[in-house]
Amino acid sequence: MWIFVNFLFLYGACEAKYLGLKSPLPYVLRKNAPKLASYGMNFAYGGTGVFDTLVPAPNMTTQIDFLQNLVKESVYTKTDLESSLSLVSVAGNDYFTYLAEGGSNEGLPTFIARVVKQIAVNLKRIRDMGVGKVAVGALQPLGCLPGLTAQNSFQHCNGTYNDFVNLHNTLLRQAVAELNSESNDSGAFIVLDLYGSFTKVLNHKGGFTDLFSSHSSLAFF
Ligand SMILES: *[C@@H]1O[C@H](CO)[C@@H](O)[C@H](O)[C@H]1NC(C)=O
Ligand SMILES: *[C@@H]1O[C@H](CO)[C@@H](O)[C@H](O)[C@H]1NC(C)=O
Ligand SMILES: *[C@@H]1O[C@H](CO)[C@@H](O)[C@H](O)[C@H]1NC(C)=O
Repeated sequence: MWIFVNFLFLYGACEAKYLGLKSPLPYVLRKNAPKLASYGMNFAYGGTGVFDTLVPAPNMTTQIDFLQNLVKESVYTKTDLESSLSLVSVAGNDYFTYLAEGGSNEGLPTFIARVVKQIAVNLKRIRDMGVGKVAVGALQPLGCLPGLTAQNSFQHCNGTYNDFVNLHNTLLRQAVAELNSESNDSGAFIVLDLYGSFTKVLNHKGGFTDLFSSHSSLAFF
């Protein structure tokens, strides 16, 4: 089973189809098609982040609450969760919101550290609920923040923002390494290079097994 939290829809439902999996059921539709829940669940809300953003939709903490409620309601059992992979995506909406609200570039490194810290709290919470593997996407390493370029008319990649992306990814990898070292499974947490290698794997139309055996195409840290 796949659990998508705050996952870009493009990389949620479409990606699952690419991989020959059934699309995960969007959380909001769960009551209409309860049987489909066994294919996984997509908790994504476009434009959201780990903190509240300009988009009035549930932040990642609340999205994880939704998963926890489904466990309480026994929609998912402990066994379901153990064999599940959760994909957590932070696409940069927190940063877009920060800048849109007048946050300074000087303050960005501090804010990035806060975002990554909250991501780590969220990853640990998902894992502590009993989810077998928890994967988190890195921000695009060489480009601009997708949320920024799309919505904030940054037309071209800017070295300053690339540095911020690199800082985010470096802190994220450190946080994930720490979570693994504290975990009873040293491979429980994974950083995925979603926008680079991951896309490459998807374009090869490999299956789920291919995805996790082609170490050369995937970034594990
Ligand atoms: C997420 O949203 C909830 C509900 O609005 C709020 O109480 C909580 O503080 C938010 N969490 C974060 C980390 O921003
Ligand atoms: C390992 O940790 C996870 C999450 O904290 C927990 O659900 C699982 O039962 C633990 N497994 C063992 C063998 O202790
Ligand atoms: C990159 O962004 C910084 C900070 O906003 C700005 O000062 C600089 O002029 C930008 N550089 C280019 C080449 O756009």
